[in-house]
Amino acid sequence: MADNESILVTGAAGRLGAVGRTVTGLLLDRGLPVRAMVRREDDRAAALRAAGAEVVVGDLLEPADVYRVVSGCRRVYFGMSVSAGYLEATVTMAAVAREVGVNALVNMSQMTVSQMSIQNTTASPQQRQHWLSEQALAWSGLPVVTIRPTVFLEGFFLRLVSPTVRDRGRIELPFGQGKTSPVAAADVARVVAAVLADPGPHLGRIYELTGPRSQDMHGVAREYSDALNRKVTYSDIPPEDWERELKREGLPEHLTRHLVTMAELHRAGRYDRLADGVERVTGRPAMSVREFVSLYADEFGGRRS
Ligand SMILES: NC(=O)c1ccc[n+]([C@@H]2O[C@H](COP(=O)([O-])OP(=O)(O)OC[C@H]3O[C@@H](n4cnc5c(N)ncnc54)[C@H](OP(=O)(O)O)[C@@H]3O)[C@@H](O)[C@H]2O)c1
Repeated sequence: MADNESILVTGAAGRLGAVGRTVTGLLLDRGLPVRAMVRREDDRAAALRAAGAEVVVGDLLEPADVYRVVSGCRRVYFGMSVSAGYLEATVTMAAVAREVGVNALVNMSQMTVSQMSIQNTTASPQQRQHWLSEQALAWSGLPVVTIRPTVFLEGFFLRLVSPTVRDRGRIELPFGQGKTSPVAAADVARVVAAVLADPGPHLGRIYELTGPRSQDMHGVAREYSDALNRKVTYSDIPPEDWERELKREGLPEHLTRHLVTMAELHRAGRYDRLADGVERVTGRPAMSVREFVSLYADEFGGRRS
């Protein structure tokens, strides 16, 4: 694979896990040319351009846009926001990648897919679409590398709990006594970038990614306490209250059902997982909760000296 051909990174302006944005930066740091796909021209697009990426605007649900942005690229990272059109976008990408002749398609999926089958699905429309997307990509015959991370630290463990950690020293989530091993999206991005930089040895592989430890939420809270040098505890809140709160915030139904299912699966012990994909691909272990919380200490109200 020629190193002078641009690598396409979709979802490059992301702000949740922002895997695409971090991958773009990591590839540029390696001196590789990147075509960064965004949905619209804004300050995030300008920042990607300033960092050295070729920025292209398009909609992953529009076949003509996808054809335009993929043309000329042989390596592709495909990931986009949790949303109702995910399966359609994946199949559109697969059709275009076959037409254009892509040599490596790195597909963002989810670790829950490892536990799914025709007889055993989940209530999350997103997880179902990832399962179907993986099936469709397998039928496509494309050279695919599948990335299956467990829950990201950036969502539940930062965005959703930072206000209560800041104000009350409490992680309030309906996770029961289930164990979990969240992974930093930055580590997921390191894996994706390493694969895109040299896809050959990875083609056809599935990488499951977790953090370094699976523990219940009391254990997670102890890592917050260590990182912030103050007491943080876990409060197991009623799932119905939590769901009502998500709805009150006006999240799309697809996303709400996905988050509610993730919480249910946590309570059922289905996030008690450990996988070494991060270290195996990048040579460096995955970030711990403590390291992550230290990194974002300000958002949790700061570290007590
Ligand atoms: N969060 C987790 O715990 C977790 C765990 C495992 C796997 N995952 C998977 O990770 C992926 C999400 O990654 P992420 O958090 O890095 O994403 P992200 O930060 O939410 O970024 C996704 C990007 O996709 C763009 N996008 C959405 N719809 C688009 C469309 N129709 N056309 C073009 N671009 C579009 C968004 O654009 P705008 O910013 O303009 O809207 C956004 O920049 C999903 O596949 C999810 O299932 C997440």
